[in-house]
Amino acid sequence: MKKINFIATLLMLSGSVSLAQTEKKPMAQLINDEFKFAAEQYKVLGKNITPGKTPQSFDKGKSINYDVKWWCSGFYAGSLWNIYEQTKNENVKKDAEAALKILEPNQTYTGNHDLGFMMYCSFGNAYRLTGKPEYKAVIQQSAASLATRYRPVVKSIQSWNKSKYWECPVIIDNMMNLEMLNWVSDNGGDKKYKEISVTHANTTLKNHFRPDFSSYHVIDYNPQTGEVLKKATWQGAANCSAWSRGQGWALYGYTMMYRFTKDPEYLKQAKGIAHFILNHPNLPADKIPFWDFDAQGIPFAKRDASAGALIASALLELGQYTAGSEKTTFKSAAETMIYSLSSEAYHAKLGENGGFLLMHSTGAYPLNSEIDVPLIYADYYYLEALARYKKWYL
Ligand code: GLY
Repeated sequence: MKKINFIATLLMLSGSVSLAQTEKKPMAQLINDEFKFAAEQYKVLGKNITPGKTPQSFDKGKSINYDVKWWCSGFYAGSLWNIYEQTKNENVKKDAEAALKILEPNQTYTGNHDLGFMMYCSFGNAYRLTGKPEYKAVIQQSAASLATRYRPVVKSIQSWNKSKYWECPVIIDNMMNLEMLNWVSDNGGDKKYKEISVTHANTTLKNHFRPDFSSYHVIDYNPQTGEVLKKATWQGAANCSAWSRGQGWALYGYTMMYRFTKDPEYLKQAKGIAHFILNHPNLPADKIPFWDFDAQGIPFAKRDASAGALIASALLELGQYTAGSEKTTFKSAAETMIYSLSSEAYHAKLGENGGFLLMHSTGAYPLNSEIDVPLIYADYYYLEALARYKKWYL
């Protein structure tokens, strides 16, 4: 009996129990059920928030809430808006509006590159669904604040400030913040934001990637000359490894840049990254990555559900720009990811998990921070993936 349990555990850890073996709900029903569930589960999450802060995680029975300057502060509001869009639940809308209120002062924050995550995932969704001019004004101001971090010599937005570790660090995650800049330029704002985005994306294309389309996490530049000082990591297993969420940011980032520019180089890059991820020998059968593709201890290494959710969402968009068998590959990989995340291996039960939807994400393994916990951005990209599937594939 013990031996059978051990083998079952091994199979689960390696992700080799095919979900095809279990009964699958039709995707339309799953999506509908998931948004209804999210509206209920987020009542629990909402009760666990310290006033003035935003929910981040839940660990050892305790809810973790962070200050609004933290890079994740916009995901809660963004998730609520996405739930509202699908359920039309007025209480969810009220919570979403309240969540925006505490984020508003961030619009003039210039302390890091994360304004896109913070203000576009939140106010961007709010504006998309309501068309309120005051939300647009916040997005425009946020873009102006983010653009102050553009360094013309480096031809990039500086991600973090100079420290004892770095001179002028640019991280692959920074690609995500370009969405807000592109959007503002395309919606009546200054065209310079799109120029900054394109220049940043081109510099990242040149310096962040390896020949196999995997990405370094951090490139440190000499701010006086623009020369690359080092290629390194902060959250990955090693400088030369492929940190899973970073690969997801890269995939999402170049797919999104193609949406705004139609530059075939960006599409080529996004496809290359997608094939790197999907053909990687260390991608488990359930397609939810380990926290790093080169993590020690695979198949026993921790997973990162946030990377799975983010990659699923990006693949669904990339599928829109591809055809034939390539489109089928991207769509069906995203489907596997969604079914995995919605299964009890990753999905919380009502009232559990501190009110978050998904379990088993990893924030920063080498820093011994947020390991195998729920994370608000895993929920955000999971909900986005569900909504995208419904919009584009049903
Ligand atoms: N942008 C920080 C992270 O992905 O952890």
